[in-house]
Amino acid sequence: MLKAVDLTKRYEDNHLALDALNLEIGKGEIFCLLGANGAGKTTTINLFLNFIEPTSGKAFINDIDVSKEPLKAKKYISYVCENVMLYGNFTARQNLDFFARLGGKNNLTKEDYYMYMRDVGLQEEAFEKKVKTFSKGMRQKIGLTIAIIKDTPAILLDEPTTGLDPKAASELTRILLRLKQEGKAIFMCTHDIFRAKAIADKVGIMKDGRLVMMRTRKEFLEDDLERIYLDYMQEPVV
Ligand SMILES: Nc1ncnc2c1ncn2[C@@H]1O[C@H](COP(=O)(O)OP(=O)(O)OP(=O)(O)O)[C@@H](O)[C@H]1O
Ligand SMILES: [Mg+2]
Repeated sequence: MLKAVDLTKRYEDNHLALDALNLEIGKGEIFCLLGANGAGKTTTINLFLNFIEPTSGKAFINDIDVSKEPLKAKKYISYVCENVMLYGNFTARQNLDFFARLGGKNNLTKEDYYMYMRDVGLQEEAFEKKVKTFSKGMRQKIGLTIAIIKDTPAILLDEPTTGLDPKAASELTRILLRLKQEGKAIFMCTHDIFRAKAIADKVGIMKDGRLVMMRTRKEFLEDDLERIYLDYMQEPVV
């Protein structure tokens, strides 16, 4: 569902942020990408979203080249980022309604939106409140709800647990596992090794733009993921 082939990004200042990434994430698979600040995780996500153009290589969503057919590719993907962009003067429900209609869903009722918001664990009294009064975690829940409503086969998440309280983070885990059961391909960048270990089918470690490690669930459970991570952080990239 998501595929990177020698995907490379060199920014205008000549910094090589992503170096020939090869990666495949199938339906019903959760991939967690770990890596230090500046490793190239968000760059990878931005390439899949066609927010930036690759220097070389290709990103595919459902076998669609995202550079060649960006609008077609976007139909298959939703995106949850750390700082979700919402309309502050709209209520939570109005934001959902706006983004749902933008995504072509015109027939959802107030009760439908309430059900979605309950599902992600947003408190009931926030449903009709203006989003500008929301905390970061509350905004993130709305961002996740928008992705759930869009109901795309692939979901990209960039540090979605940042700013979530432990209960909300655990609810996110539950939701991601459910989306996996529904057959979604999930790509999540995170610093949260604990959560990666809890949900990932595959874990990758990125360092200085290179994917230096990739392990399946069976493989990383046989070892201590935190130790593996720290070992890779100490080794120079060759
Ligand atoms: N627009 C840009 N122009 C130049 N360099 C950039 C640009 N965006 C990112 N970079 C650089 O590319 C590298 C990778 O950045 P990226 O944002 O992908 O890291 P990250 O792994 O997401 O880090 P974090 O964990 O802090 O979110 C960094 O060295 C960063 O400074
Ligand atoms: Mg990032």
